[in-house]
Amino acid sequence: MTVEAIRVSPSWLDLREAADGAARARELVGLLCRRVPVDGSWSIHDLACGSGSMGRWLAPFLSGPQRWVLHDRDADLLALAAANMPGPAADGAEVAVETRMSDVTQLRPDDFAGATLITASALLDLLTRDELARLIHACAGAGCPVLFALSVSGRVRLLPADPLDARIAAAFDAHQRRMTPRGRLLGPDAVEAAVEGFHRLGAEVAVRPSPWRLRARERELAAEWLNGWVDAACEQEPELAPDADLYRRRRLNEAAAGALAVTVGHADLLVLP
Ligand SMILES: C[S@@+](CC[C@H](N)C(=O)[O-])C[C@H]1O[C@@H](n2cnc3c(N)ncnc32)[C@H](O)[C@@H]1O
Repeated sequence: MTVEAIRVSPSWLDLREAADGAARARELVGLLCRRVPVDGSWSIHDLACGSGSMGRWLAPFLSGPQRWVLHDRDADLLALAAANMPGPAADGAEVAVETRMSDVTQLRPDDFAGATLITASALLDLLTRDELARLIHACAGAGCPVLFALSVSGRVRLLPADPLDARIAAAFDAHQRRMTPRGRLLGPDAVEAAVEGFHRLGAEVAVRPSPWRLRARERELAAEWLNGWVDAACEQEPELAPDADLYRRRRLNEAAAGALAVTVGHADLLVLP
């Protein structure tokens, strides 16, 4: 496997599923629905599916029978995804699921034979430029629409504001763009790189913002996100740690009191070949 296997915990995916669902750009589904497959049935490959939240969100918006092929490199997450099937379809048609252990950076056009839609969420920013280029090549070979959702944009806003916000944000972004044995990760540059890559192949690409808007109701997710955000910033810039510890405590107290509003920028893109 050519990727560093940092595992994503099922509890984190579970915690974020509702906020992801609220953030996803519904307008792109409207555009997608104008490209219903000729025979009315969908063959959808969801890449790096995790516990399957993309399918659970999208399947009920699409009419017609659907066969979802869920790809991930994590067998435990694939088992969870298979146990929590998406569906039913908007018109009540059957939704079937198959899971595949795959490294999505190694997929080739043949792996998508017969696909009528390729999806992914929260994936692109984890890739290097070369991996994304290979994935775009594989998707383009399938000749079907591609919906890549919830890629981080690097735009984060916390209210009330704090003097340390900008430093933590900059260190976090640098961490997202860090060098790995596979090459430099795209982080917040992923959406622009994907749009350029698909444009180069002559595809039409629609991009819409899909930010998380975390308020008092989402305080648990806000706190979990904040911990990860500050940890990554300190891993990138260890000299931040003393200030960041106090900052974290302040922010977690605000979150617990329902007095912190966090907006985390993402973007969704729909590619129409
Ligand atoms: C942030 S999670 C997103 C999961 C899911 N798409 C969602 O939105 O809830 C990233 C997922 O990508 C998977 N992943 C990361 N790199 C991968 C790779 N090269 N091949 C297959 N899966 C990968 C991880 O196992 C994890 O399930």
